[in-house]
Amino acid sequence: MSIVITNIGELVTNSQADGGGSAPGGLAPAGGAAQRSAGQGFSAIENAALVMEDGSVAWTGPANKAPAADSQVDASGRAVLPGFVDSHAHLVFAGERGAEFAARMAGRPYSAGGIRSTVAATRAASDAELAANLGRLAAELAAQGTTTFECKSGYGLTIADEARSVALAAEVTPEVTYLGAHVVPAEFESDPEGYLDLVTGPMLAACAPHSRWVDVFCEQGAFGADAARAVLAAGQSAGLAGRVHANQLGPGPGVQVAVECGAASADHCTYLSDADVDALAASRTVATLLPGVEFSTRHPYPDARRLLSAGATVAIATDCNPGSCFTTSMPFCIALAVREMRMTTQEAVWAATAGGARALHREDIGHLRVGARADLVLLDAPSHAYLAYRPGVPQVAAVWRDGQLITG
Ligand code: NIG
Ligand code: FE
Repeated sequence: MSIVITNIGELVTNSQADGGGSAPGGLAPAGGAAQRSAGQGFSAIENAALVMEDGSVAWTGPANKAPAADSQVDASGRAVLPGFVDSHAHLVFAGERGAEFAARMAGRPYSAGGIRSTVAATRAASDAELAANLGRLAAELAAQGTTTFECKSGYGLTIADEARSVALAAEVTPEVTYLGAHVVPAEFESDPEGYLDLVTGPMLAACAPHSRWVDVFCEQGAFGADAARAVLAAGQSAGLAGRVHANQLGPGPGVQVAVECGAASADHCTYLSDADVDALAASRTVATLLPGVEFSTRHPYPDARRLLSAGATVAIATDCNPGSCFTTSMPFCIALAVREMRMTTQEAVWAATAGGARALHREDIGHLRVGARADLVLLDAPSHAYLAYRPGVPQVAAVWRDGQLITG
């Protein structure tokens, strides 16, 4: 079964094959030096068509050269992008913290301690309640153009609750992250070493079969550098690749630990020293920025331009969770990244697609080169720039995942 989408005003492919780094549609490639030298800068074709067949991209090129297909979709001059890749989300939880958000907006600071209230609600919830909440959030992601998302545990913090969290997550995504090292739960307050032993021992053993990644919240009030190293090392020996919540609430060792341990991604990166920026730029660790968190906590936005100028690879993700940022909208995060973190529209879209794929070590998504998984978004707009130009306006007209229409 083949489908051709024709009359595409702007087809974002993220493919240097479109012009060796200079896109034929007159759109400059974007992204940091590392992105360009790795051949994955933003690029787009104007007046284009795309053919998908059996779940993959089979052809892209000028609309007037498009081959015939079993069925045809007329994009009527609108833009087509790779599906968004949300590489950081916490979707297995119960309860909500709207009052905490309102109190923050009235001047109360965000602290890691709020996580414990979601832990209590999550432990008290049935599997069916957790699955229903997760399903609702997964549907929201899809409706807003996200075709791949990562999902963390981290609100269970017992062996049984973490194990059921990763098992539920594995039903909706292959990108499951074990985050037993989210915070030390109340019952281990006076024995953090004992909790670390649990996280790196029997809890890991129970969660690893359902997980691809291991994560640790390396921050004052959560886990220090040595504990973070221990969590990542234990996860790696159980076959899980690392990710780190790093430098979210203040300067600290998280980014350096992430780089040193070869983590796929250092996430947040809100408070970076020059040495942190240099370490990221010299590494394969992606700097994943989560601008919805700064929006929702009133922390200062990180400066993406500083990272890009140094040559770091930058991704954008939602961090959807009930505490620090309760959005599933990648378009909203793109708009924030452009307006508040000094990214160009091209850089932000690259970061939300190919950047997220890089942060998940995925080569089949985040771009629309021939052979890519047919994950794509048709916008109700003529170009990718409208995602930031018209913030807050629903512009996702249709979404295909694996070549199947899932929205629209
Ligand atoms: O990524 N930083 C740690 N974890 C989440 C927040 C979790 C919460 O507040 O419930 C985050 O921001
Ligand atoms: Fe997070």
